[in-house]
Amino acid sequence: MFKIILYPTDFSDTAGKSLDYLKQLKNAGAEKIVLLNVIHQRVLDTLETVHKAAYFQDARYHEDRDEAELNLTKDRQNKLAPIAVELEAAGFEVKIRIEKGYPVKEILKVEKEEAVSAIVLGSHGRNNFRSARIGSVSEKVIRRAVSTVLLVKR
Ligand SMILES: Nc1ncnc2c1ncn2[C@@H]1O[C@H](COP(=O)(O)OP(=O)(O)O)[C@@H](O)[C@H]1O
Ligand SMILES: [Mg+2]
Repeated sequence: MFKIILYPTDFSDTAGKSLDYLKQLKNAGAEKIVLLNVIHQRVLDTLETVHKAAYFQDARYHEDRDEAELNLTKDRQNKLAPIAVELEAAGFEVKIRIEKGYPVKEILKVEKEEAVSAIVLGSHGRNNFRSARIGSVSEKVIRRAVSTVLLVKR
């Protein structure tokens, strides 16, 4: 029932808290964790704007922009690596995925591609607005996911 689990993380406190729940699913038959971070389109657009501005000064727009995107990806890889180590130590097989675009769309895409049986995610993320009962990503994932969703509250 919980063989392959998708764990999307934005490195927020609530997503971190979900890790403890995730580990407990070993006892429910979980074998493999797909660890996912989505580099938000907004972040990529910001790179675009910043480096377009720089382009007018030294015409190095393309190399600089690509390098910045590569560094961003490396940074996410470095953040995911210790989480993968922790999950492997808990006895799971781990697959890391870094996607670019809109979190909900990418989470649902990976859900299909990896044929996951369940998704574990936080009720809130990095915004963590006090007044929000639930974050926008988690709300949409719950509505649109095909598989079972375990929503860990903040
Ligand atoms: N960029 C992302 N990549 C991977 N997972 C994400 C991303 N953004 C949000 N999530 C997942 O969705 C959960 C809820 O986040 P979200 O709905 O964005 O709340 P908030 O509005 O507080 O930021 C997070 O705890 C995390 O599990
Ligand atoms: Mg968010």
